[in-house]
Amino acid sequence: MEQIEQLQKEALEKIRDCQQGSALNELRVYYLGKKGPVQGLMKNMKSLSSEEKPIFGQKVNQLKQELSQAIEEKRQELAQKEMLAKIENEKIDITLPGRKPHLANLHPLNLVTQELEDLFIGLGYQVIEGNDIVSDEYCFERANIPKDHPARDMQDSLYIDPNWLLRTHTTAIQMKVLEESAPSLPIKVVCPGKVYRRDDDDATHSHQFMQMEGLVIGENVTLSDLKGTLEFMARKLFGQDREIRFRPSFFPFTEPSVEVDVSCHICNGKGCPTCKGTGWIEILGAGEVHPNVLKMAGYDPEKCSGFAFGVGIERVAMLKYGIDDIRHFYTNDMRFMDEFKRFE
Ligand code: PHE
Repeated sequence: MEQIEQLQKEALEKIRDCQQGSALNELRVYYLGKKGPVQGLMKNMKSLSSEEKPIFGQKVNQLKQELSQAIEEKRQELAQKEMLAKIENEKIDITLPGRKPHLANLHPLNLVTQELEDLFIGLGYQVIEGNDIVSDEYCFERANIPKDHPARDMQDSLYIDPNWLLRTHTTAIQMKVLEESAPSLPIKVVCPGKVYRRDDDDATHSHQFMQMEGLVIGENVTLSDLKGTLEFMARKLFGQDREIRFRPSFFPFTEPSVEVDVSCHICNGKGCPTCKGTGWIEILGAGEVHPNVLKMAGYDPEKCSGFAFGVGIERVAMLKYGIDDIRHFYTNDMRFMDEFKRFE
């Protein structure tokens, strides 16, 4: 009986302390197997009296049952532990943020173009685009610049053949709109687009850049209408405190012609490096549409008049966003491009 108890104690302790399924299996084979110590106890039977035998046999059976139950419980416990450990190890942290795809944003030149389009649509203008390749006639002759006119020197051109060229200004679109609209009134359009001039590229010059042309023709459209319109535009682009001023200038297709300055938005007109100490920044050329231009398109300059202006999109974007080199617009550096996400 003592042997039974001792074996029981020893086996139960080993089972309790067992930490692995394989070791537990070894314990099961050892204690419950035919050559194991429990079965071995049976050998003692022959030295017992006939009264003692059944009691002893019962005790040994009980021990067997008890051990196999303990092993089974332990097996379940270990299996459970193993499963939990596996779950813990294979855990996927779904709280980690995913990788975001790089989302594109509008190019600063498109931001400015769209801002201007919105502004002019709000004033009742239509947006009209044209072809990049135009004939000499619409780029120059209809704009009152005959073939031998020295004003052609102002725009060094990229010709495809003697009659066709890459438009040097959006005024070429203006001339098409005028001809196609004649003789109906009024005309109120803005024409954005790329323009091309032969130039040596540097921080402020590019052989390709963008302009937006504005054209209004009606009865008694005067220079003060132009001034009011451009003041509205300057304030929308550069802030409500901006003033504009006209300086006399020359363009063959406008008479009178003006160069338009905006009071500097950096120093409020006091003078700073951006406005070269003058307090004013030149932003565009404009004027009253020349009578010759109206006549060539089929309008009677005695009955109608109007204004036109041409604004450089790069120039506005550079001033507005503080960009110091025009080439940044064309080199597609994502670090530069990403800066404009916040303006959308
Ligand atoms: N076409 C002129 C230029 O490119 C700008 C302009 C447009 C001037 C319309 C007056 C009127 O320089």
